Amino acid sequence: MPNPPPTRLASSLFTATYASRAAVGASAPGRVNLIGEHTDYNGGPVLPFALPRKTVVFAAAAPHWEAVSSRNGAPTRFVPEDAPVGVWTDYLSGVVRVLRELRAAPAGASIAVASSVPAGTGLSSSAALTVAAARALSRLGGRQLSRDAVAEVAYRAESEVVGVRCGRMDQAIATEGRSGQALLYETGSGTMVQVPFPLRVLMVETGVTRHLGAVDYNLRREECEEALDAVREAGIAAEALAQVPGHALTTLARSLPSAHFRRVRHVVTETARTREAAAALAAGDYLRLGALLFDGHASIREDFESSCVEADLLVDSALAYEAWGARLTGAGWGGAVLVLAPPDLMARLKSGLVRDFRAAFGRAPVLWETRAAGGLKTEPVP
Ligand code: GLA
Repeated sequence: MPNPPPTRLASSLFTATYASRAAVGASAPGRVNLIGEHTDYNGGPVLPFALPRKTVVFAAAAPHWEAVSSRNGAPTRFVPEDAPVGVWTDYLSGVVRVLRELRAAPAGASIAVASSVPAGTGLSSSAALTVAAARALSRLGGRQLSRDAVAEVAYRAESEVVGVRCGRMDQAIATEGRSGQALLYETGSGTMVQVPFPLRVLMVETGVTRHLGAVDYNLRREECEEALDAVREAGIAAEALAQVPGHALTTLARSLPSAHFRRVRHVVTETARTREAAAALAAGDYLRLGALLFDGHASIREDFESSCVEADLLVDSALAYEAWGARLTGAGWGGAVLVLAPPDLMARLKSGLVRDFRAAFGRAPVLWETRAAGGLKTEPVP
C-alpha cells in the first residue's frame, strides 16, 4: 500500500493544488473477480469482492473543469464534451456527460484524485475512479443519487463515452462491496446476493499491463454477439449466451466455427462454475471452490483465449504447490492471478511462485495478500 493512504493524499493534493478546501469527497474500491469472467456482458453471473485498495476523489465547484491526480502529474483542464483522447480525464468527462443528462452535474469543478488501486492489473481501477467521481460530482451538483444510479452513471461513462464495451460487474462491486463478503451478481436478472468470504487471498501480478480499451476485449464481445446469432440460427432459443443449456454444446460443436464454439463453451461452463462456486463458498468448501477456479482458468486459457503465458505459469505452479485454486482475474491478457490456499501453506507457496516465475521470466512478480473490503463511501472533507 502506498504511504500516505489515498484519502490523506487526495485531500492534501487538493489543498496544495487549489489553495482551498474541497467541498465533497467520495471513495470506491478496486475489485478482484473470484470467478465469472466475461459472463457479465453475456447475461451470466459474476462473483467479485471489493479490495481494501481504493480511489479517492475530492472536489469543489469551479467555473471550469480541472483535475489533478497523484499518479498523473500536473493539474490539467479538460472539456467534458471533447472526444476521448486516451487520457485519464476521459473517464471524468464520461461521468460529467452522463451526470449532465440526469441534471446532476455541477457547472464545473476542481478535482483531486489519489488511488491505491494498481492500474493495468485487471483490478478495475477505472470503475473505482468513475464510481467515486460519480458520487462526488453528483453531490456537488446538489443530488443524492442512489448506489444503483451511481453504478449506472459509471457504467455509461465507460461504455458510452470512453468506448470500452464493458459489462456491469466492476461498477456493481465498486458500489455494493462489503467487508468479508463476495457478491454473487446475476447480470441477467440483476439479482445480488452477498456471500460470506472470510479468506485471505494471495494476489500475484504478472507485470503484463493490459489496456482494456485495446482491441482484444471489444473483439471478444463482438465474437460473443456473432456466436449468439449463430446459436439462434441453430434453433436454440436464448436471449444471451449464458442461457444456452449445457446439453446444447454437443450440437453447437458441429454447427459453429471453432473459435465461436469455444467462446460459447466458455460462457456456458463459466456460468455453471460461478453458481457452483458461490454455493461452495457459502458451504465453506474451499477445496471445491478452488477446483472451480482452476477449471475457470483452463477455460479462459483454451476456450476464451484471454490468458497470457505469465498467468498460465503462475496457475500451474500454484497447482503444483497444492493451493486450493488459482486463476487470472479481470479482463485478461495480463493483469493479476488470484490464489486461494490454506493459511499454513502460504509462505511455501509464495516462495515457490516467485522461484518458478523468476526462472521462467527473469524477474520477480509483485505479491500481496488481501481480503474482501467495503464499497463506495462518501468521504468526510477534512
Ligand atoms: C472487465 C470489464 C468487466 C468484465 C471483465 C471480464 O473488467 O470491465 O465488465 O467483462 O472485464 O470478466
